[in-house]
Amino acid sequence: MPSARSILGTSLGRFYPRSGSLESRNAAMTAWVHARVEQGLWPYALRAESYGPRARVKAAGGVSYAGINLTSVDYLGLARHPRLAAAGIAAIESHGVHTPSSAPLMGNGSVSTALESELADFLGRPSAFLCPTGWAAAFTAVAGVVRKKDVVVMDELSHQCLQQAAYASSDHVHSFRHLDDEHLESVLATVRSQDADVAVVVITEGLFSMDGDSPDFASLVPLCRRYDARLLVDVAHDLGSVGPGGRGALETHGVLQDVDIVAGSFSKCFGTNGGFVSTKDEGVEWAQLCFGGPFTYSTALGPVPLAVAREALDIVRGAEGAERRERLGRRIAFMRREAAVRGLEVYGQPSPIVSVKIGASPLARLAGRNALERGLIATYLEFPVVKQGQARFRLSLTPDHDEETLEQALDILVSALATAETELGGDVASAAS
Ligand SMILES: Cc1ncc(COP(=O)(O)O)c(C=O)c1O
Repeated sequence: MPSARSILGTSLGRFYPRSGSLESRNAAMTAWVHARVEQGLWPYALRAESYGPRARVKAAGGVSYAGINLTSVDYLGLARHPRLAAAGIAAIESHGVHTPSSAPLMGNGSVSTALESELADFLGRPSAFLCPTGWAAAFTAVAGVVRKKDVVVMDELSHQCLQQAAYASSDHVHSFRHLDDEHLESVLATVRSQDADVAVVVITEGLFSMDGDSPDFASLVPLCRRYDARLLVDVAHDLGSVGPGGRGALETHGVLQDVDIVAGSFSKCFGTNGGFVSTKDEGVEWAQLCFGGPFTYSTALGPVPLAVAREALDIVRGAEGAERRERLGRRIAFMRREAAVRGLEVYGQPSPIVSVKIGASPLARLAGRNALERGLIATYLEFPVVKQGQARFRLSLTPDHDEETLEQALDILVSALATAETELGGDVASAAS
């Protein structure tokens, strides 16, 4: 059994195995996870018993907790919207519960066609096609067109779906410092000085889900053009929640039509699973459809997510969507202001993701446990999900978290942190992260 010190001081990254049998090389990690579970320091196995701005969860040890839920990415609060529920029920009655085919083999029908064209219309782009999840969309968007000799240059904090797709597709993946255009330019200049003709794809996101920040697209788009690089943007978190019309950071910066490839997800702001890809070039789109993997070889979206996504899109682009974004914006401003009042520092720019800086993982782990026991269900992120020493609480807001609830949540977090500091015995700075 690992010692208390190693439970707190060790990170998952240390257990990433490179050799040995499948079973033996994972034994130490398994023991470490068990020990964390036993001490209430493993937050990644909570099971929801009820869901919403307040929720009930069952921890791995079997104990149930009730509390304010700041873990959901339902940024517009649509997951339980009666219109979406009614659309899902009507879809079941008309089309059944499942479409047991992949998209190219008749998994798409008239409802998919309608959603694709409504999405393209919403984005003001020539076309869009659907994928089973946001992950599948991002993977398809990259792996469908990028080949081994191509160069991929990606923001270092790009989501795993983009990273895995890039490394699976290209032998020449470079990363640039998060949101650092100067660094990106130096990488692009080096790449172009070595090969003027190679295909180059720059990958970034509309809203980064760990830091809650966005690129400056007004400078990024021309920068990519100068180096004849195509720009791919994953808008999973900002589409629906950001921008005057809910079209995300690309709308805010006025570049929605200029980006070469957009990948998105319905799972944050559209109340259902599913994703999409929108390109500008017909050949690029055909490559994604033919070689994208998850598009071709995974079962297509069924009647319920299709109907729910269409209904959600109707809400997002209409008056109710605008009202929800406006309410969400007030909650975000309130939360950031109240966090500062309590001496908490937050990452990024105003967005539904309010990431509170903690620093050392042991502090985050103890505070997370204390918070849960005191009525706050909140995700903390630690290395290797975020960089060493940059553990944080990622608090996700919805329009349905009222101000009183948010104040309570922050008060719990502050007290949970204070207790955690005492538990660490003043050793916070030196605690391994
Ligand atoms: C940038 C990004 N792309 C894709 C995904 C995956 O989306 P989905 O959960 O719809 O598969 C996520 C998930 O959080 C994400 O953050």
